[in-house]
Amino acid sequence: MPLQVAILAAGEGKRMRSAQPKVLHRVAGSPLLAHVLRAVRAIGPRAICVVYGSGGDAVRAALPGTDLTWARQEKLLGTGDALKCALEHLPKDGVTLAMFGDVPLIRAETLTRLADAVDSDKLVVLTATPPDPSGLGRIVRDAAGEVRAIVEEKDATPEQCAIGEINTGVIAAPTERFAQWLARLTNNNAQREYYLTDVVAMAVNDGVAVVAVSAADSTEVQGVNDRIQLAAVERTLQRQAAQALMRDGVTLADPERIDVRGTLSCGSDVAIDINCIFEGTVTLGDSVSIGAHCLLNNVRIGAGSVVAAFSHIEDAEIGGRCRIGPYSRIRPASVLGDEVHIGNFVEVKASTIGARSKANHLSYIGDASVGRDVNVGAGTITCNYDGANKHRTVIEDDVHIGSDTQLIAPVTVRKGATIGAGATISREVPAGELTISQHKQVTVPGWKRPEKARR
Ligand code: UD1
Ligand code: MG
Repeated sequence: MPLQVAILAAGEGKRMRSAQPKVLHRVAGSPLLAHVLRAVRAIGPRAICVVYGSGGDAVRAALPGTDLTWARQEKLLGTGDALKCALEHLPKDGVTLAMFGDVPLIRAETLTRLADAVDSDKLVVLTATPPDPSGLGRIVRDAAGEVRAIVEEKDATPEQCAIGEINTGVIAAPTERFAQWLARLTNNNAQREYYLTDVVAMAVNDGVAVVAVSAADSTEVQGVNDRIQLAAVERTLQRQAAQALMRDGVTLADPERIDVRGTLSCGSDVAIDINCIFEGTVTLGDSVSIGAHCLLNNVRIGAGSVVAAFSHIEDAEIGGRCRIGPYSRIRPASVLGDEVHIGNFVEVKASTIGARSKANHLSYIGDASVGRDVNVGAGTITCNYDGANKHRTVIEDDVHIGSDTQLIAPVTVRKGATIGAGATISREVPAGELTISQHKQVTVPGWKRPEKARR
């Protein structure tokens, strides 16, 4: 039977105490709902409908996708009403799997297991037995062990509260059955809500078999309702990412101290020291080594390069066998060739730097094209900004720039030129020659330092 998925995400998420809709809070770099959608898309349903509520326009905007249908639930009347809203936007036949938007650890395999268990006369619920079931709906079974109902904690008797098996919120049934049951729901309960969970007892009454599939591990169905659960889920995702990296042959100095907020792909024998953060898409070639406390955001680094501690690299491409850091900052649109050295307190922005070129200390290279085999002396600055516009600096191959030089852009330094220390360069520097622009050093004979008046 064709499968479709309804994701209920209209809740306000009050316990987050946030102006932002709950499902947009991020774990491992993406919104909670994006994690759920990844698992849902992996099972290949023919349609996905997300139920959203007030503040939900931000949710729609944050999660583009031509495969998504959006259903607005005007009033939060309960999970049963939310599914009813979704069914108005979904095909009337086939199987519908309903779930919540705040369970980012859910795996596609689990959803498939559930969808596969449904047939024309079966309802399937995903249950779990977490260490602490409080606040959750309990699975009520009869003496024969058959599921009879789901009872919300607020409506439960003390005996029912003692049940350890809970409703995870993932439920699947034939779409036509859902439509019939939801039409009959009442809100005659402690919360005055239309409970989706009441369909279980209705199925039992209608002679439809109810199957409980239990989650292998209750952390997988952990919902996020507050910032404490958000942090717990973040940690779980980071542990999973660290374990996957180590299984792929990456050395992590401490798997508890790495954060991957996107996709990190590594070649063989990559080593990562403590407290590094990887955001967006980061690709590290063979034998790359990343020192402690680095932040890399959308970066590609070639084989054999070493990034030393406390470096910050964003939207950049770095060649092989480079040495970056410690304390380097490489900003967007920077492209470094092979064997480039960028040292401490050097900032590179929107610049290309050719193979074997070096800027080892205290420099700013912005909006520049630097050739091969160039040596940039300590304290060299490209003065790229005139207060209104940015201008480019061109430094051709094999140039040596003395320390503390200012290059006032737009300016070009021709091939093989040498610039003496302390120069202020505002005109083209000819190839192969030594260019200096120093004030003549003078000594003032007999000069006395001023002294403070004694009192
Ligand atoms: C629900 C289940 C409970 C289960 C628990 C698991 C019901 C009645 N109860 O309880 O059995 O153990 O989840 O976490 O289903 N939502 C809407 N519209 C609404 C109300 C809720 O879209 O009108 C969405 C929320 O955004 C949320 C989800 O449905 O993602 C669950 O709602 P919530 O109010 O958190 O239900 P619980 O009381 O936690
Ligand atoms: Mg909840």
